[in-house]
Amino acid sequence: MQTVAQPPSLSDAEIEKIRQDFPILDQKVHGHPLVYLDNAATSQKPRVVIQSLVNYYERDNANVHRGIHELSNRASAAYEATRTRAAKFLNAKSEDEIIFTRGTTESINLVAASWASQNLKAGDRILLTEMEHHSNIVPWQLLCERIGTKLSYLPVTGDEGLLDLARLDEFLTSDVKLFAFTHISNTLGTVNPVEELCEKARARGIVTLVDAAQSAGHRVVDVQKIGCDFLALSGHKMCGPTGVGILYGRMEQLKRMSPYQGGGDMISDVDFFKSAWNKIPYKFEAGTPNIADVIALATAMDYLDQIGRDKIAAHDMELAAYAYERLSTLSGIRLFGPAKGRAGVTSFLLKDVHAHDVVTFADQRGVALRGGHHCNQPLMKKLKVSSTSRASFYFYNTQAEVDRLVEVLAEIQKFFTA
Ligand SMILES: Cc1ncc(COP(=O)(O)O)c(C=O)c1O
Repeated sequence: MQTVAQPPSLSDAEIEKIRQDFPILDQKVHGHPLVYLDNAATSQKPRVVIQSLVNYYERDNANVHRGIHELSNRASAAYEATRTRAAKFLNAKSEDEIIFTRGTTESINLVAASWASQNLKAGDRILLTEMEHHSNIVPWQLLCERIGTKLSYLPVTGDEGLLDLARLDEFLTSDVKLFAFTHISNTLGTVNPVEELCEKARARGIVTLVDAAQSAGHRVVDVQKIGCDFLALSGHKMCGPTGVGILYGRMEQLKRMSPYQGGGDMISDVDFFKSAWNKIPYKFEAGTPNIADVIALATAMDYLDQIGRDKIAAHDMELAAYAYERLSTLSGIRLFGPAKGRAGVTSFLLKDVHAHDVVTFADQRGVALRGGHHCNQPLMKKLKVSSTSRASFYFYNTQAEVDRLVEVLAEIQKFFTA
């Protein structure tokens, strides 16, 4: 029998060493060791990233692209070096395809405001999926109100949380001009076949946007291999600071886009009544950018690559499978998302206990979870629930922490059913 080679994961010793890079993890919450399982909301930051921010403000702080003094040159060089680093991280053809934004939300809004406003017209359709985050729904609703485009949604199958791919052809109708979908679901842990989705869309001349908020820091995300036109990510979910993200845009599409916002840096010449735009990508970055956080994002990318994104992905999948198996042993638990091949995001409901009670109780035991609709209200409505509890993992989480989660959930069940 042929054996399939498993990707290398992280050893216990490696995780122990990694945890020492995260000062925040070494603390007690309500008298218990912190078990941080809210990584889908935001990841923790390694010391090197925090230090990168301190170094910038202590040594190099100046505005970029404008000064000719030493500090401004240093700041500009480091800022632009992140663009090159990000292009390599995503395997973009050119650093000119990297636009810095505030995060995934702003990246998607940029495409809606700029590409879609310019290239779509009333009656054109945008295809989304039922598992999209509000950030990949509301910008399109606003666009529909503005220019009269229409939306449709590729269905999710149910609690097992897969896209109904058998129906994809039916939804890729001739009026669909853009297909925007998430790589990994932030509620279900589903890993969507992004390459296949992009290929099907491309064959019909449909432009694609991938929401990589939950994937970019968790696995290798190669925009050329995926074959997407746009890809959006948030730095804060991949060990970087808050307030910085990336929009990758295929050059062919960026050339078809008007500016997003007006102001400094995005112009080449301004007259009283008319202006000319700077070259791509600066055309899409108006005003003083988030310099320090952009620079620290490069440090985060270096850090992730030093660990190895293949190893991070393998650890994610291992821990997710372990959590699913352990959680399944609890009676009266309803688990959402696929049983197999899932990413490190697990949503569940305990019978007769509200998600907020689960999260509040768990917090008293030092376990940080998330409860609510996770910015997936349409998906919640489809699943006929108002909220779920969610545990989400990263490479610094251990099986022992999953065991602790299960122990606390068993305690919660006992407490609420006694
Ligand atoms: C799948 C997905 N898309 C988009 C976002 C929005 O990210 P941000 O708030 O960083 O812009 C999130 C955040 O949780 C997410 O999980």
